[in-house]
Order: sequence, then C-alpha cells, then structure tokens
Amino acid sequence: MTDIREACAKTTPRISEAEIRALVRPDRIHRRLYTDPDLFDLEMERVFGQAWILVGHDSQVPKPHDFVTTRIGKEPVIMSRDANGAVHVVANRCAHRGLQVCATESGSTRHFKCPYHGWSYRSDGSLASMPNAVSYGGRDAIADPANGLRPVARMAIYRGFVFASLSPTGPSLDEYLNGIKTSIDDLVDRAPDGEIAFVGGCSRYIVRANWKTQIDNGVDLHHATYTHVSTLDADGRQFSRHGGGPRILIDGKRSIDWEPFGVVGFPYGHGYQGRPPVETLPSGPIYEDYVSRLVAKHGEERTKAILKYDRFNSVVYPSFTFQAFGQHVRIVRPTAVDKTEIRVYPVALKGAPEAYNRAAIRSLAATHSAASMIQTDDIEVFERAQRGLASTSNDWVLFAGHPGKGEEWHEGGWRGSGTSEFVSRIQYAENWVSYMCGGQGNAVA
Ligand code: FES
Ligand code: FE2
Repeated sequence: MTDIREACAKTTPRISEAEIRALVRPDRIHRRLYTDPDLFDLEMERVFGQAWILVGHDSQVPKPHDFVTTRIGKEPVIMSRDANGAVHVVANRCAHRGLQVCATESGSTRHFKCPYHGWSYRSDGSLASMPNAVSYGGRDAIADPANGLRPVARMAIYRGFVFASLSPTGPSLDEYLNGIKTSIDDLVDRAPDGEIAFVGGCSRYIVRANWKTQIDNGVDLHHATYTHVSTLDADGRQFSRHGGGPRILIDGKRSIDWEPFGVVGFPYGHGYQGRPPVETLPSGPIYEDYVSRLVAKHGEERTKAILKYDRFNSVVYPSFTFQAFGQHVRIVRPTAVDKTEIRVYPVALKGAPEAYNRAAIRSLAATHSAASMIQTDDIEVFERAQRGLASTSNDWVLFAGHPGKGEEWHEGGWRGSGTSEFVSRIQYAENWVSYMCGGQGNAVA
C-alpha cells in the first residue's frame, strides 16, 4: 500500500511543526485539537496512518471467506479470512477505478465483485478475474499484485485482536502494546478456554464530539462521582433498579476517594484505571459454575489471580478501550472533527457457561449501549464539551491534575493517584505531538 503520508501530502493542508508544538503544553492543550478540521485531517494521516489501530477481532470472521468492513482513520478496509484460514486486512478499494468493492458490513463471500466493471477479488484480496482481461495484459495482469485489493502495510494479531498499521515502518505490535498487554491478558485469561469472541452483536452510537473526548475519558476516574451521580449516589437506585450489576462501594458517601485506586500509564499513550472494590462480588450457581471451570483449567491459585478485579477501563491509544470486568470492547471511529462513531462489542468468554456470557451482554446493555444509564451520561458531557469548546473565551483545555508522571514504577509503566491526569499528558505531550510532527510515537515511559 502506498505510504499514507505520501498519499495525503497533496490534500492535507500543511500545518507547521512549530504550530503543532505550540498547541500542546505539558499540562494543557489548545482547544483547536477538538475543533479544527485541518488538525483532524492531519490526525487521520499521521496518528491513524502511523499507529497500530485495532481493526477488530478474529472471531468476527470465524470461517473461511467471512469478512467485516471498517475504517482505519479515513481508509476503508476489509478484514477477511481466506480459503486457508489466514486473516487479512486489505483496502476496500477496487484497483481499477477506485470503488469500494464491498458495501456490506459483514458477511461471507468467496469473491468481492466490483459492481462497476466486474473485477473480482478473492477473500485474500488477490484479483481472481477481470472481464476483458486480454485488453489489460491477460494472465499477467490478473496475477499482478498491483491489481489486487492492496494489503495494509502491516498487520498483526495479539490474542485474537487484529491490529493494522498503514505505515511500513515503526515499532512492532509487541513493542507498541508493551505494558497494556497485561490488560488484554486480564480480559482474555478470564475465558476458561483462553479465548474470547465477539458474538453478542454490537451497540453503536454517534457522538457529536471529537474522538479524543472518549479517549480522555477512558483514563479519567474522578468524573464518575459527578457525571454518573444518578448511579453512584447513596442508594444507586438508577443502576440497581435495572439489573446493572454490582454497584461501586461508596460507603454511603456522595464523594468517592479515587486516589488509592490509581491510574497506570505506559509508553505510546496506553493506560488503565484502577478499580474500586465492588460492594457485592458476583455469586450464585452460574458464577460458581464459571469459577469451577476456571479452576479445572488453571487450579485455585491462578484462578484467584485471574479473577482479581483491579482494573476498570483500559485504553490502547488511540482508539481501543475495553473493560475486562465489564466484558466489553469499544472501538472509537473518528468521522469528523466533531463527530465520532463508537462501537461497543460484548465479549463472550469461551468455555464459560452460556448463561454467564448472556448476563454480561444484559449488563452491558444497561451500562454502555446507546440507551444505557452510564454511557449516556458520558455522551452528554462529551457533546457539551464540544459545544463549550466553540467558545473563544479561553483557548486551553487542562490536564494539570497531579503534576508529574506518576509516583511509582508499575508493570512497565507509571502508576499515579486515581485522579491524576498524567496518562492524558503522556498521550498529548509525548505521543500526539510525536505523531503529528511525523514521528512514530514515544517509546519511553
Ligand atoms: Fe472496479 Fe472498474 S471500478 S471494476
Ligand atoms: Fe463515564
């Protein structure tokens, strides 16, 4: 695939490096990062065109010839499984005149047939046939990889999560994920069979706000006290009334001391929030059945370690957030500077009782679906932020809480107080600036 920076160079308005650097200070960022369409275009080219982006999960294409379509930044792509079972991520772009060859979101097909002049592509992206082939050079033209659906520059899979980078250079996926792999492991290890699957459908919503509001929020513990007050107040009635699951321990207080739970930040801008103890741990025959299956696979000690609920949201910069405890994955898909699509996938733990996985889907519908009780709170604040940032009264957005970079070295990253905003500072001052100035993110903790 042509290097995306090269491809976009002709269309993206140039913003100088000095100008980009002036927009980010150690403890604050300029409001233009949320409101400037030119910066948005440059982000799609330089952040989403460089970093490893989560495309999906290989369980979305379980059988040969299954596919899903999505985007990496502005690039339309197809994730497919070929006849031999290998997963591919290729451009959804006909090599002839550029049409999207696949207009459906998911399905199964041996061939993607372009509706314009009938070029037909295999499920690995290679060209299978073209009408009137002789006029294009016959067999040689059909066999020419340049006439196929072009593969992304790099593709790699970690525990079923399919990532792609549009850049041929940069850190390997392993280097890129670094310490946040422990969060992915924390999710996948909960499956007695050691694998998860996206099989519970997808909840989707469009937020009229910049994509970064969702990522900022993924490492922001202390907003919960205020944004989610109707769930977290003394009787938590909104949540419990709707079977949302165990509520967070607040000792009957309106205000929670988040500090002890901490946040952890890693190189390349990833991070996770620590988790307060829950008031009621899961129990009952279904849960016991689930635990016994884990014990049968791993023994008592390891099962205890797996079931430790010490993490809340995890964020893989720039567009992948998930909760191991909440059994879901969110993919953030920027659409415009002030418009973002969020896809929420419930995660089934393979080997867990069916009823256990079903309960997780029900709980997620109460917390993070488009009409849920918790996510709707967040959507409201994201959209109000977007509207407020139209104000010219103040140029700056603050991430100044708990200056510094965390107090303690922890699992290959830094751990700071629960309300520290240092993970966002790592994302902006070290990674966003690096990508936007043509770099490859910051490998240094
Ligand atoms: Fe696809 Fe012509 S544009 S076959
Ligand atoms: Fe929230």
